[in-house]
Amino acid sequence: MSKVRKAVFPVAGMGTRFLPATKSSPKEMMPVVDKPLIQYAVEEAVEAGITEMIFITGRGKRAIEDHFDKAYELEAELLAKNKLAMLEMVQNIVPPNVNCVFIRQTQPLGLGHAVLCARPVVGNEPFAVLLADDLMYTNPGDMGVTRQMVELFNKEHASVLAVQEVPREDTKSYGIVSSTPWNTHSERVQGIVEKPDPKVAPSNLAVVGRYVLTPRIFDQLQNTGKGAGGEIQLTDGIASLLSEQPVLAYRFQGTRFDCGSKIGYLKATVELGLRHPEVAEEFTHYLAHRG
Ligand code: G1P
Repeated sequence: MSKVRKAVFPVAGMGTRFLPATKSSPKEMMPVVDKPLIQYAVEEAVEAGITEMIFITGRGKRAIEDHFDKAYELEAELLAKNKLAMLEMVQNIVPPNVNCVFIRQTQPLGLGHAVLCARPVVGNEPFAVLLADDLMYTNPGDMGVTRQMVELFNKEHASVLAVQEVPREDTKSYGIVSSTPWNTHSERVQGIVEKPDPKVAPSNLAVVGRYVLTPRIFDQLQNTGKGAGGEIQLTDGIASLLSEQPVLAYRFQGTRFDCGSKIGYLKATVELGLRHPEVAEEFTHYLAHRG
């Protein structure tokens, strides 16, 4: 089975949970300390050995394309002012061997539809999906979450979903799996359902925003009708895949911050601020001594 070389970043969503901040700027460009959410996700993919970044974008998301493009005026200014460290930083947002491809999702038909939009570029290869709202923090030197999943994929030749337990009352915000044991960190998915009411949810094991999928998912998504919320759901495509191929639920090593919610975003800002070389010391002092 071929290597995972491609990642899909669905970034067309409106970010209504973060209005008014997201009225005219993409939610994926919101910074945690000094980097936009989408850059954390792209760096995680790079660390996993992925070289083709496919963004499924939409209206009002041009800032994302610009972020991964050359910035002539800025670079000329930084060079003229001899700010070479900053110049190097803006020139190396992605390594030179990485390609970025942008595809417009012209209608907001759901996550499943967004992933299907990537089909012409992904072709017949396994690929990762990263939802930038979910910032996956791992300690420096530890393997990133996407890399952990790619390694599992390489070993088991099966699609992999990142999962974590959530409070029962939160099942209505996630794809929820039912599963049977497989090995220490993974389970074999037996069923998956999008955003079930806590009363009927099969478990409290929730899919978070990382997937490694076989290309067979595209055939399933092609035949997937509207599901929860009237949208074409990736979850429903995965549910159909289950009858043909094994799918694993993987309890990742790391911390997930739900940066699509205000509280998750604040937690990420505090935790990454406490670890950021430039501000860690002063910020730690500030938190310890405030008020
Ligand atoms: C999407 C998926 C859902 C998944 C979640 C993870 O939902 O549809 O299955 O559990 O991402 O963050 P969304 O958060 O876009 O509503």
